Amino acid sequence: MNILGIETSCDETAAAVVKNGVHIKSNVIYSQVSKHRPYGGVVPEIASRNHVKKLPYIIEKALTNAELKYEELDAIAVTYGPGLASSLLVGFSSAKALSKRLSIPLVGVNHHAGHLHSVFMTDDITNMESAFPMLALMVSGGDTSLIIVEDIGKYNIIGSTIDDAAGEALDKAATVLKLGYPGGPVIQKAAENGEATKIDFPRGLEQPSRSKWIYQYDRDFCFSFSGLKTSLINYMNKYNEFPDDSSVSDIAASYQEAVVDALLLRVNRALDFFKVNSFACAGGVSLNKTLRNKLHDLSIQKKIPLLLSPPSLCTDNAAMIAGVAYEQLINTKEISDPVDVCPSLRLANW
Ligand code: KG4
Repeated sequence: MNILGIETSCDETAAAVVKNGVHIKSNVIYSQVSKHRPYGGVVPEIASRNHVKKLPYIIEKALTNAELKYEELDAIAVTYGPGLASSLLVGFSSAKALSKRLSIPLVGVNHHAGHLHSVFMTDDITNMESAFPMLALMVSGGDTSLIIVEDIGKYNIIGSTIDDAAGEALDKAATVLKLGYPGGPVIQKAAENGEATKIDFPRGLEQPSRSKWIYQYDRDFCFSFSGLKTSLINYMNKYNEFPDDSSVSDIAASYQEAVVDALLLRVNRALDFFKVNSFACAGGVSLNKTLRNKLHDLSIQKKIPLLLSPPSLCTDNAAMIAGVAYEQLINTKEISDPVDVCPSLRLANW
């Protein structure tokens, strides 16, 4: 079954053709990073206008690269949330029109379900059945959460950030450190020349709670990055002049270490608490080398297999959307054919 995936939830314009959920026949991504860089973050209107401009060509290219004609497609998959409403609408309306024109199903996909599915889109495609239950750390620009994936399409969220996402914390720190955008890759690069133990930044929620815990998830499995960000700003305010490159490298390395440690701490706890057959990490921040290395070490220490998405599928892409749509089509009786996009869509069972 050949599925055309379309993804426009944020600032990547992407289309891909995937056969039977895991065989990627094409995966075309137009990154708008250069358009948003001058503003230090994604500007929704710039993103949607660029999706309008680029999406038709990206879809054409995905089909050409896959050596398929439109008539050979079996379904269209599209991200309908979460994301920026104006961006989601571009991909959604194109996908809806295509599915009507070709008389093939339209499958609405949750962006986060796509990220989680990407850990199975590796050369070792036999790993899916034996992986569940699986603990998953979802780390992207807009979300940081811990999820027990009981089975394909069965999600139990056990923790999440109570303020910023890990990617957001890196993006904001990169602005403070004048390193550029997006923050994750530039902080990683600067950190290569720095000492990670130089500054002891907070790991978030490590002190006992000073007030009533009001969040729906257990505090032990939740994350907080806003204190870390404040701590960086306070640290920078101590300098009369902007620090030299070597100091910036130390600050970047220490900050990155704090973000990674905060993530690892909760993964470690969850692995002690829940009985799982594997654990995984997905989303843009999962590209981070320090995070990947520390997760590998944890996997060896705990003797629990680790699943990571291939680097090409860590950041936003449409292959993961087509991949999960295949599972939705074959595992559910009702096809999710949403009437509209849902910018705050939550991960739900299917
Ligand atoms: O998953 P993604 O492409 O977009 C969302 O759905 O949010 O993730 C984007 C995030 C950004 O915050 C970016 O700084 C971060 O992923 N990122 C990284 C790395 N590459 C991208 N974070 C840490 N290390 C990296 N190498």
